[in-house]
Amino acid sequence: MIKFSNLNQETPYLLFKEKYDEALNKGQKVIEGISISSFNKEINLVDSRYVNLKYITDKEFIFFSNYNSPKASSFNSHNQIAALIYWQSINVQIRMRAKIKKTPNDFNQKYFFDRLKQKNALAISSKQSKPIDSYDQVKENFNKSLKNDDLKKCPEYWGGFSFTPYYFEFWEGHESRINKREVFNQVNGVWKHSFLQP
Ligand SMILES: Cc1cc2nc3c(=O)[nH]c(=O)nc-3n(C[C@H](O)[C@H](O)[C@H](O)COP(=O)(O)O)c2cc1C
Repeated sequence: MIKFSNLNQETPYLLFKEKYDEALNKGQKVIEGISISSFNKEINLVDSRYVNLKYITDKEFIFFSNYNSPKASSFNSHNQIAALIYWQSINVQIRMRAKIKKTPNDFNQKYFFDRLKQKNALAISSKQSKPIDSYDQVKENFNKSLKNDDLKKCPEYWGGFSFTPYYFEFWEGHESRINKREVFNQVNGVWKHSFLQP
């Protein structure tokens, strides 16, 4: 589930929420899953991965991750991302482009404080995406953290990322095959609305 608060009242945000509610009502599984694509210009690499979108506050889409991970290095190197959702229950794809930044430390601390200790032990004990000898070693590191670490304190290498889309495309599959593609592109602070051919 995504927590919405103080949602921005501009059309693309309202349309996003409308589609979210429709998908939720149709029983969409993993509704918070979103693919984030990044470009690391230091190593000239593009990459994508799913994350869980936790909050949409005003215009900010927020997820949490490791600040030393490859994705974090990419965001640091190049602050634009592409985000992608597909909700199979309503046959809707949402494509977004956005600038991304870290969330403030006090926000991260508060979020971390309220999480399950198992989740926090994993966040603390994992050097995300670094190689390790075995899965047993992962479990051992986790169990050590569970026993020894302060599981209420967010480490400096973990926290939120917030992105604010400046481009949305809503793709709706229709049984007629005449699929609908609606674009909202923000230019100089103004949303330009258009349709694309399917
Ligand atoms: C549905 C789903 C949700 C995920 N959610 C998160 C998440 O919220 N944060 C996160 O760091 N990784 C999440 N992951 C794992 C990432 O896809 C990825 O493996 C990890 O973040 C390392 O990515 P990186 O090497 O590009 O930094 C999720 C994976 C899946 C399949």
